Amino acid sequence: MRKKITIIGAGNVGATAAHWAVSRNLGDVVLLDVMEGIPQGKALDLLQSGPVDGFSCSITGSNDYKDTANSDVVIITAGLARKPGMSRDDLLAKNVEIVKSCSEEVVKHSPDCTIIVVTNPIDAMVYTAFKVSGLPRNRVIGMAGVLDSARYRTFLAEAIGVAPRDINAMVMGIHGDNMLPLVRLANVSGVPITDLLSPEKIDEVVNRTQHGGIEIVNHLKTGSAFYTPGLSAIEMAEAILTDSKRVLPCAVYLEGEFGISGCFLGAPVVLGSGGVERILEFELNDDEIKFLAKSVEAVKEQMTATGL
Ligand code: LAC
Repeated sequence: MRKKITIIGAGNVGATAAHWAVSRNLGDVVLLDVMEGIPQGKALDLLQSGPVDGFSCSITGSNDYKDTANSDVVIITAGLARKPGMSRDDLLAKNVEIVKSCSEEVVKHSPDCTIIVVTNPIDAMVYTAFKVSGLPRNRVIGMAGVLDSARYRTFLAEAIGVAPRDINAMVMGIHGDNMLPLVRLANVSGVPITDLLSPEKIDEVVNRTQHGGIEIVNHLKTGSAFYTPGLSAIEMAEAILTDSKRVLPCAVYLEGEFGISGCFLGAPVVLGSGGVERILEFELNDDEIKFLAKSVEAVKEQMTATGL
């Protein structure tokens, strides 16, 4: 039987995620939104790309959660997007209400699904979905690390002059200014980046990564990034749907890992049919621990602000 993927929110991120999902033939897709006609129109348009692109899964648009029943993976993208001058935190109050109601409806119809939260501020929104859904921590994860790491890898590849896919590099922590692009472990097919770039250049790349989201908001003016956020969510969904045990950085609820408890934080996890099947814990150095503490503080502030 084909897998079923629900994408909530048919805006730029949701529609782009739906595009990648069908293009990879991941399973039948339901695109849901409160706006009448938008998910139906976008789904029909995507469905008609099947003969050209070559996929055979279905995609339908809906305004009714009944159509999402028995989904394997649900991706929540619904919410307001950032505009210039708006921080991810400014969005919190508005989006917490949206993610709360989505999460309630999701588990009512798909009690065994894995939820991937994309709505910003991601760390607070994944906490909201975790609390409201009542699902175990392995079934509720936030998309941020794949996107932030993709930006880090892109900028490193540009700086070194090599293919982006050969850059192994990871961003941990919050999806915000206090994210931690790991320098010590970043490498090009095994060659440390510290042997290839000056400390000044590395600082520049780290800084650009930390502000990668706002760089795009400032260009677009009317919203935030959507191609790579949409694809990043689908990369996570694919790992779960195909039980591939990929290691991807995701926002996960920590219970003692890395010495941190009671907090969602970006960390490398193994994704398979069980959702988060393992958190890949490793030793951090003192500087990394200190930096990650800033992430934890910022996420915990956001968690408190949700009022949950
Ligand atoms: C970004 C938004 C999705 O980083 O937070 O582009």
